[in-house]
Amino acid sequence: MTMNNVASKTPAESTVQMTHLVLPNDTNQLGNLLGGTVMHWVDIGAALVAMRHSGRVCVTASVDEISFLEPIKLGHMVRVHASINRAFRSSMEIGVKVFREDPLNGTEAHTSTAYLTFVAIDQYGKPLPVPQVEPISDDEKRRFEEAAFRRELRLKNRAAMNALREKNT
Ligand SMILES: CC(C)(COP(=O)(O)OP(=O)(O)OC[C@H]1O[C@@H](n2cnc3c(N)ncnc32)[C@H](O)[C@@H]1OP(=O)(O)O)[C@@H](O)C(=O)NCCC(=O)NCCS
Repeated sequence: MTMNNVASKTPAESTVQMTHLVLPNDTNQLGNLLGGTVMHWVDIGAALVAMRHSGRVCVTASVDEISFLEPIKLGHMVRVHASINRAFRSSMEIGVKVFREDPLNGTEAHTSTAYLTFVAIDQYGKPLPVPQVEPISDDEKRRFEEAAFRRELRLKNRAAMNALREKNT
């Protein structure tokens, strides 16, 4: 059986942790890491998880809101933890947490959380089915439940926005 047609996989099988050092080119005039660079690292971490889980090329379909809770300074380490919360037919919700750490004294803080939806596609860009997620730990089970709730909200929001646009045209 190839990686693409297994029925289910655990989140641990595809989880990704990346570490970056904040260099001068990554910062704004306050010496803080650019938000766009954080978003880029979040997107890359999540893409790797989606591809490891599905064994397919995946594209970012959407990113839910992302907040920046604390600044990240020049010289800090940034840890990006990404793991799959749930898979649907061709789409997958990936949760990403970002932490900063001062490598000189070890102090750390949680700086962002984001939820991204990735879709597995074939060579023509057509969505492909993906393995389901089998949550094992209590945290994984909670994230699995919450992912279905968030998907429902996304679909409802999209339908409501489309209806509003149609009404206004
Ligand atoms: C994402 C994409 C493949 C979806 O293709 P589509 O023809 O709309 O496919 P469908 O309507 O059949 O949807 C396929 C899946 O994507 C999900 N999806 C589509 N648009 C979505 C969105 N905006 N947010 C979340 N999920 C989305 C659907 O819910 C569906 O999920 P499911 O199969 O698990 O039920 C297509 O819109 C695309 O290629 N977008 C560009 C992606 C890209 O280039 N990203 C990089 C940023 S530039």
